[in-house]
Amino acid sequence: MKFIIFNWKSYLNFDESNFLTKFISKTKFKNKYNLIVAPSSLALGFLKNKYKNVNFSGQNFDFYGKGGFTSFMPISDLSENNINYALIGHSEVRQYRKENNSIVNLKLKLTLDTKITPIVCLGEDLNTYKKKLTTDYLKKQIIETFDKNTQYKEVFIAYEPLWAIGSGLVPTNDEISKIADFINFFLKDYSFKKLKILYGGSVNSENLEQLSKIKELDGFLVGSASIKKSFINKFKL
Ligand code: 13P
Repeated sequence: MKFIIFNWKSYLNFDESNFLTKFISKTKFKNKYNLIVAPSSLALGFLKNKYKNVNFSGQNFDFYGKGGFTSFMPISDLSENNINYALIGHSEVRQYRKENNSIVNLKLKLTLDTKITPIVCLGEDLNTYKKKLTTDYLKKQIIETFDKNTQYKEVFIAYEPLWAIGSGLVPTNDEISKIADFINFFLKDYSFKKLKILYGGSVNSENLEQLSKIKELDGFLVGSASIKKSFINKFKL
C-alpha cells in the first residue's frame, strides 16, 4: 500500500477544494494507493462531512487544548471529527510560525490519546545538504522530536528536504533510499507500532514513476502537483 498525501496548503479556496474533493470522491483509484487529502482548516470539516469515501488529514493543529486561545486549533477539532491524520512540523509551519522540534515533540505526544496518525515532517536546508551534513541534521531533529521511553502508535515520517519543496529540485532515488534506511536504522531503538516513511518535495506527474521505484518508501507527500487533476489521475484505476 502506498500512501499519497495531498497537501493543498493554502492554494485552493473553499469552492475549489470542494470541487476537487468531489472529483476525488467520484474517481476509482487503484487499490494499492491510499489517497489522503489535507485541505485548508476551513474546508476540512465541511469536506469530511460531505465526502464519506475520502480520507482526510489536517495540515496542522496546535498544542493548546480547548479554551481561550484565539486563532489556535486544538487537536480535538480533528479527533472529534474523525480526521485520521495530521501533519506535524511541516517546514512551512516551522518557518512561518516558528514551530521547533520541542513543539513538534509535544504535539506528537498529544496524538497518542487520539486515533490520529501523525505525519511528522523532517528535512534539511540547502546549505546542510551541500555540506553533506544531512544525516547529522536529521539525527538532531529525530532526537529532539521522539522520546525513547514513549510507545508510539502508527507514525509516518515525511522526509521533505527544504530545498526540494516547491523548487523543482529532487534528490536522486539513491539519496532518498539512503535517507529512508538511515531514518529506519536510527529509530530502531525507539518504539513504534508502525513506522512508515514518505518522501515530499517537488513530486509531480513527470517524476512520479521514477520516484515510485524507491522500495524503501511507503508513499509521498505532495504539494502543488496535488491540486492538478492530471496528477490525481495518475492513481486512477
Ligand atoms: P511541493 O510538492 O509543492 O514541492 O511541496 C511539498 C510539500 O511541502 C508537501 O508537504
